[in-house]
Amino acid sequence: MTGSASRPVVEDTIRGLRARLDEARAGGQRVGLVPTMGFLHAGHRSLIERARSENDLVVASIFVNPLQFSPGEDFDDYPRDLDHDLAVCAWAGAGIVFAPGRHEMYPGPVVTTVRLGTLADVLCGASRPGHFDGVATVVAKLFSIVGECSAYFGEKDFQQLTIVRRMARDLSLPVRVVGCPTVREPDGLALSSRNAYLSEAERVQAPVLRRALEAGAALVEAGETDGAAVEARMAAVIGSASLARIDYAAAVDPATLTRGQQPLQGDVRLLVAARFGKARLIDNLGCRAG
Ligand code: PAJ
Repeated sequence: MTGSASRPVVEDTIRGLRARLDEARAGGQRVGLVPTMGFLHAGHRSLIERARSENDLVVASIFVNPLQFSPGEDFDDYPRDLDHDLAVCAWAGAGIVFAPGRHEMYPGPVVTTVRLGTLADVLCGASRPGHFDGVATVVAKLFSIVGECSAYFGEKDFQQLTIVRRMARDLSLPVRVVGCPTVREPDGLALSSRNAYLSEAERVQAPVLRRALEAGAALVEAGETDGAAVEARMAAVIGSASLARIDYAAAVDPATLTRGQQPLQGDVRLLVAARFGKARLIDNLGCRAG
């Protein structure tokens, strides 16, 4: 681990956070932001460490955002452990942890939200309607609260990263959005707070997602340019795991998240999602066609 283990300042008000950051910027400090929903693991830690390496002051936010969960999803059960999170933030080098209560972020009924276009309707958006509007709304609020900064997001949630990047550009927000590589378990499973939901048997099978992506990428790199064939290959690999229920396996243009060019050409993003019992897991991988 890097950084000093000094305890970060915990702020739970917007006004207090703004005052600290305005003062830091007035003193010439560069601010980095790492938005999270807590229950931090080594993936989150890598974002904080990256932010620390590029900025003078890092804010990690911890807020389980009700707006991005549909009724029946795991909002109430979402794992929480603030003490552990503060220790991770300390080790990784966050100077401030912004941990607002629900009322601080949403003082009344939410009327004004960010509404996304087509980027939010595909892939995870197809099975989680409204999810990305909820993500974009809370991220826009965090960008507005924090102000000029660099903000760090994981490639693990590739659709989210693409949407946030696009939103910052479309709304001229004063934020540089930085994508960071996915941190994995030794067997290839992408770290996720939701891995905590996996039974022992499900955990054994879950790395099939990574294997499916590798099989798809190998096909593309061997010259396959038919997106449907690549998707069928990935789906077949996921289908070989008895406990997996596939949601999607897609080969898309990384900027539009749609099939776009057919045959596949240039940069291609492969993305997969599947349920293992209660856990819905996602993963993705970049490759090059042609
Ligand atoms: P959360 O799932 O807590 O993730 C916070 C950040 O950590 C996201 O940018 C995510 O992509 C990144 N991350 C998660 N697992 C990772 C891994 N294995 N390797 C690298 N980065 C990883 O994503 C959210 O929270 C929320 O939607 C949020 C953006 C905070 C808005 O509420």
